[in-house]
Amino acid sequence: MKRIKIKELLVSGELGSEILVKGWVRTKRGNKNIVFIALNDGSTILNIQVVAETSLFDENLLRDITTGACIAVTGKLVESQGQGQNIEISATSIELYGKSDAETYPLQKKGHSMEFLRENAHLRFRTNTFGAVFRIRHSMAFAIHKYFNDKGFFYLHTPIITASDAEGAGEMFHVTTFDINGAPRGEDGSVDFKSDFFGRQTNLTVSGQLEGELGAMALGDIYTFGPTFRAENSNTPRHLAEFWMIEPEMAFYDLTDNMDLAEDFVKYLIRYALENCKNDLEFLNNMIDKNLLDRLRFVVENDFVRIPYTQAVEILTASDKKWEYPVGWGRDLQAEHERFLVEEHFKRPVILTDYPREIKAFYMKQNDDGKTVRAMDVLFPGIGEIIGGSQREESLEKLLSRMREMKIPEHDLWWYLDTRRFGTAPHSGFGLGFERLILFVTGMSNIRDVIPFPRTPKNAEF
Ligand code: 4AD
Ligand code: MG
Repeated sequence: MKRIKIKELLVSGELGSEILVKGWVRTKRGNKNIVFIALNDGSTILNIQVVAETSLFDENLLRDITTGACIAVTGKLVESQGQGQNIEISATSIELYGKSDAETYPLQKKGHSMEFLRENAHLRFRTNTFGAVFRIRHSMAFAIHKYFNDKGFFYLHTPIITASDAEGAGEMFHVTTFDINGAPRGEDGSVDFKSDFFGRQTNLTVSGQLEGELGAMALGDIYTFGPTFRAENSNTPRHLAEFWMIEPEMAFYDLTDNMDLAEDFVKYLIRYALENCKNDLEFLNNMIDKNLLDRLRFVVENDFVRIPYTQAVEILTASDKKWEYPVGWGRDLQAEHERFLVEEHFKRPVILTDYPREIKAFYMKQNDDGKTVRAMDVLFPGIGEIIGGSQREESLEKLLSRMREMKIPEHDLWWYLDTRRFGTAPHSGFGLGFERLILFVTGMSNIRDVIPFPRTPKNAEF
């Protein structure tokens, strides 16, 4: 007999039919005559109840069916007599695939802390919460590809190993085959990378943007979706050293087009989750965050506020809040400032534009005021910055002069500069932090709980 997944069974199972299900035991209860097993196979947050009459089964088998054990059940689909489910399986045979010792199984009991589950990241998929989070994470990845494909964007695979530091922040993990104890050195004592694997110094990418721009300058609209790596020592609930980023890059888009796309894109993703992840979202709404569904609907239904950085600084200065970090024109905004604007002042997502050039990357288009650049950051409730992007500087002269000011070596980026030499065009793009999106959509509060195996300072177990 062919196995049926529980998700499908709950939708289209026919009463009275013989079926085969396979999964992990969530709970077992009962008495000497009858045993009730809640079985979950991961296809949905919902369990199927298996009813076994003890007289039909071997006593040892039933004893070994404990929380966490894996079993295959053949039986008849019947109407449920009990509360909490409409259908259940009246078991005729049970095969035990794998026992799970009740004394040592870490998830034997319910109600573990998030910290405990993080330390047991190899097993936390088996909890309702993490099952829901990772099914939603999958749905969001799928929806991202669907959104861009439907709009005629091309998925471009940009390299993971690169020689450039796109953001210029110097937060890179180096890639080398040198023995760290004995890298060859040149006459001046510095490491000589000529004999290293790539013949030069390389690192894990912090962003696919620069290569993405090369694609956009021929294919028109592209997007990347891949892992990015930052060696910033930020131990916060919103930073990972390895995170996934979606970076669309569009020829002929100005900053307004860019903002329109960003707003439409995140609203589409949230709407997709509301329509396609109902059971999981309802569970998270009940168990993790009672305002989750309201907040998701609110974001889909309301326009984002769009204001320049300068105006945001005025609002922050005028408020009588006590800030941990000082506010002032020219200073970067901290999470506390971003969250004040979104959660207390405007009470909706905010897009800030036209930041001071000193606090933004070299590639952003310079405004005529000589002070600001055509940057945009999308700020979300509970998260702060979820998207960072800009219109790009398309003028070779302006780009070069900014790179010289910032001491970014031209000879390393000759290929990037070639796009401005040959057929340059106005263009724009942005980066959405995938895990920050998942934080928002699931209502989870720590970014370590929305990626299967988080990489953070001093933590790379599993
Ligand atoms: O603002 P960022 O640094 O922008 C870029 O990397 C640009 N190259 C994007 C572009 O224009 N193509 O990063 C973009 C987003 C942030 O808004 C944030 O959501 C996320 O990436 N992000 C992180 N997420 C988790 N952990 C970190 N350490 C992150 N750093 C950035
Ligand atoms: Mg940013």
